Amino acid sequence: MNETAELDAIILGGGAAGLMCAAVAGQRGARVLLVDHAPEVGRKILISGGGRCNFTNVGAAADRYLSGNPHFAKSALGRYRPQDFIDLVDRHGIAWHEKTLGQLFCDGSARQIVALLLDECAAGGVAFALGQPVTDVTHADGRFRVAVGGREMAAPALVLATGGPSIPKLGASDFGYGLARQFGLRIVQPRPALVPLTLPAGEALFRELSGVATGVVARAGKAAFREAALFTHRGLSGPAILQISSYWQPGEAIGVDFLPDAAPGWLTAAKRERPKAVLRGVLAGLLPQRLADVLAERLGVGELHAAKDMALAEAERRLRDWTFRPDGTEGFAKAEVTVGGIATDGLSQRTMEAKRVPGLFCIGEAVDVTGWLGGYNFQWAWASGFAAGEAVAARLGE
Ligand code: FDA
Repeated sequence: MNETAELDAIILGGGAAGLMCAAVAGQRGARVLLVDHAPEVGRKILISGGGRCNFTNVGAAADRYLSGNPHFAKSALGRYRPQDFIDLVDRHGIAWHEKTLGQLFCDGSARQIVALLLDECAAGGVAFALGQPVTDVTHADGRFRVAVGGREMAAPALVLATGGPSIPKLGASDFGYGLARQFGLRIVQPRPALVPLTLPAGEALFRELSGVATGVVARAGKAAFREAALFTHRGLSGPAILQISSYWQPGEAIGVDFLPDAAPGWLTAAKRERPKAVLRGVLAGLLPQRLADVLAERLGVGELHAAKDMALAEAERRLRDWTFRPDGTEGFAKAEVTVGGIATDGLSQRTMEAKRVPGLFCIGEAVDVTGWLGGYNFQWAWASGFAAGEAVAARLGE
C-alpha cells in the first residue's frame, strides 16, 4: 500500500448529506475527501421527484419526521432551514416552483441540484474517490484510517453518510449500520418506508383496480394523511399510502376514508332524494366508476330504497373508515426511504458527532430520522450535513 494520505475529514457516502457536509467543511478550510463506492455521486438526487428533485419542503419541522427521539432533529433543522437551501438554489440561478403542500421542485432537472452541490464542493476544494469499495476502516490514537482501492487515507474526523438500504440497485447498502456498530453505536431496526403496501389474495377485487386513483384520508394509529391513494396490482400506493406506510407496523390494519368531504348522513339523504338510485351509481358521482363498483359490491347495497337507514349508516361508516389489512410492503427495492437506522441517543443533536467516539459523525438517512414524503428527507440531509460540516471544520483549531 502507498503512503497514507493525511486529511482533516473523510466523508463516506456522496449522496445529499455527504455532499452538503463536504462542501460546508471544505469551504471552512478543512481538507476533505469524499468517498463513494458508486461511480457517480448523488444518484438518488438524480431520480428524485420524478427527475425534478423535490429539494425541500417549506413546512419542514421536527414533527414531520419519525425518530426514536422526536426532538433530536430540532436543533439541526432549526439551524439550517428550508430558506437556507432556497437561497443556495437561487444563488446558483436554478428556477424552481412550489407544486403542492409546500413541496419545492426544480423547474428543470434534478441534475441542477447535483451540479450545485458539486460546485459548492469545488469551492471547498473537496477531493473525491469514487467507484471503489471501502475495504477497511479503523480508529486508533484519535485518527480514522480508511482503505479505498488499495490506498489508505487518514483523518481525525470520519463522517458516515452512506444512507439506508432502500433501492439497493442505486448503490444503497447497510454498510453504515455495520460501521456504526463497529464503533459501539446502536441500530434501530431498519424497515422500508414511503413504500407501497401489499394486499392479501382475499382482496383480489381491489387489486383488480390497478391504476385507479382517488383522494382519501389514510390512517395508521394516530397518523393521518389526506392525499391521493392509488390501487396497484399488488395492493396500495399513492402519496397517502406511502406516507402511512412509514407509520404502519406489520400485522396492523390501516383505515381509508374514501369520502373525506361527504357530510355526515349523506347516504340516507341520498335515499330520500333519489330512492330508486343504486349505491354504485351514487358512489360513481363521487369516486372513479370501477372503485364505486367494488365498494358497492363489498357493501352489498343495491337500490337505496331497499336498504334500511341503519344499513346505509353502516355503509357510510365503512366508506369513511375502510379497513385494509396489508400483508406486507414492496420492500427496500421500492422504498423511498428507511425508517430506523443509527440510534440518535449515541449522537449529539447539535453536531451529529458520536458522543463516545470523538471525530465520528453520522448524518442523513443513515440516522434514525425519517421525513414525510415531500422534500422533508432532503431537508434533513442538508441540515444534518450542514451541522456536521460546521462541526468538522470547528475541530480544525483544536
Ligand atoms: P443517499 O442514499 O442519498 O447517499 C448515500 C451514498 O452512500 C450513496 O451515494 C451510496 O452510493 C453511498 N454508499 C452506500 N454504501 C456505501 C459504501 N459501502 N461505501 C461507499 N459509499 C457507499 N427525498 C426528498 O426529500 N425529495 C424527493 O423528491 C425524494 N425523491 C426520492 C425518490 C426516490 C426514488 C428515492 C429512492 C428517494 C427519494 N427521496 C426523496 C429520499 C432521498 O433520496 C433520501 O432521503 C436522501 O437521498 C438521503 O440522502 P443521504 O445522503 O443520507 O443518502
